[in-house]
Amino acid sequence: MKIDILTLFPDMYIGPFSESIIKRAREKGIVEINIHNFRDYTKDPHGNVDDTPFGGGSGMVLMCQPIFDCINSLKKDNSKVIMMTPSGRVYNQKIAYDLSREKHLIILCGHYEGFDERIRSICDMEISIGDYVLTGGELPSMILTDSIIRLLPGAIDEESAKFESFNNNLLDYPVYTKPRVYNGMEVPEILLSGNHAKIDEYRYQEQIRKTKELRPDLLGDKYEDKV
Ligand code: ADE
Repeated sequence: MKIDILTLFPDMYIGPFSESIIKRAREKGIVEINIHNFRDYTKDPHGNVDDTPFGGGSGMVLMCQPIFDCINSLKKDNSKVIMMTPSGRVYNQKIAYDLSREKHLIILCGHYEGFDERIRSICDMEISIGDYVLTGGELPSMILTDSIIRLLPGAIDEESAKFESFNNNLLDYPVYTKPRVYNGMEVPEILLSGNHAKIDEYRYQEQIRKTKELRPDLLGDKYEDKV
């Protein structure tokens, strides 16, 4: 997969994309990530990428020209252009799975200000990472990128991806490691039994129990009679 990110603050990406799973996925060629400063595309003699809003009002508005030119220079037939914005569709694991099947993502980040409304016409999708406002789309784009890359074949142990939170709209089951007793709290006996069929069933029931307790909104009326 190829991911192009458009931002005015490329240095923000240095740390998050140079460590751990993302770093290894890049090194293994599972993903190619390129960061573009769309200021480099402006035709404004002063290097501006924003201007005051028509009709008045506070703040500045990101202009069409640098963003259209930057996206058009990167866009191919198989590209999906995503705008990071608090007014977009709220992100979840299902969208992450869908996007992980794409070949090329172009992710557009604003900072401080809004986008000229006409920029929406060049985007295929608008995504918000939650109902709160951040200073810019950079952190949201990192969250998007991280959650997608870990789903790409070879990025992480595929077995662990199979049993993680939000698959089947269930949270992950609880896990324990040594010691067997810590401050009087014991590891459930069944996990020490060696009976894998029973352990699987226990874990599944724990997924349902935990989801009911912590995130009942994920269940709707599913599992109503089962636990
Ligand atoms: N930019 C600012 N806040 C945002 C959010 N919640 N999601 C996506 N992009 C944003």
